Amino acid sequence: MKISIIGAGNIGKTLGGKWAQAGHQVIYGVRNPADPKYAGLNAAPIAESLAEAEVVLLSLPGAGVPEFAAQFGAHLNDKIIIDATNNPRSPQMNYLEALQAAAPQAVLVRAFSTLGWENFANPQLGGQQIDLFYAGDQAARPVAEQLIREVDLRPVYLGGLDAVPALDGLTRAWFALAFGQGKGRRVAFKLLEE
Ligand SMILES: NC(=O)c1ccc[n+]([C@@H]2O[C@H](COP(=O)([O-])OP(=O)(O)OC[C@H]3O[C@@H](n4cnc5c(N)ncnc54)[C@H](OP(=O)(O)O)[C@@H]3O)[C@@H](O)[C@H]2O)c1
Repeated sequence: MKISIIGAGNIGKTLGGKWAQAGHQVIYGVRNPADPKYAGLNAAPIAESLAEAEVVLLSLPGAGVPEFAAQFGAHLNDKIIIDATNNPRSPQMNYLEALQAAAPQAVLVRAFSTLGWENFANPQLGGQQIDLFYAGDQAARPVAEQLIREVDLRPVYLGGLDAVPALDGLTRAWFALAFGQGKGRRVAFKLLEE
């Protein structure tokens, strides 16, 4: 698949590296591709990175999403958009409504938002595979689950976009455990079922 990754930081580079290894064409859309910190990455201006993408990962700071949506929304229609962004210091954890308004034909998924990036880099904890809870449009499930499995996580679908508040609650639970309870960033969730 052709994947555009918006924001080449902890999340973008961790997931992009694994997807490139799995054989996808990964391009990083960044504000200043000439910045030396992007040397060696396949980085391009944001609009250029989006032009041929089938899948777009949003891994920029959450507070930047409304402006990103306003500026680049027209490039997102008919693509699968995986939103990993958070706004953990705000009551509003995500800006999916702004994305939907700017790109009504985009197929939205919220994934890779609930755990620290170290758990994507190394998806085993205590000898067990980490589960990745996610939510979003049914139509995107096969692609989303393939991309989650290629990070060596086990996908657990919570439901459509109406399940996003529950998913974001899990993110807040992760923050409460990792920082509030001092468990650190290597903490994750596992679904047990009969
Ligand atoms: N870190 C985690 O463990 C984790 C886990 C789950 C979800 N998330 C969420 O994932 C997102 C990325 O986190 P991160 O830790 O990877 O951040 P990061 O390391 O700070 O990287 C952010 C990237 O976004 C770019 N960026 C910043 N503002 C931008 C804007 N307005 N438009 C376009 N690009 C912009 C930055 O590049 P330039 O400033 O050079 O342009 C940088 O490449 C955040 O929303 C975060 O809440 C993070």
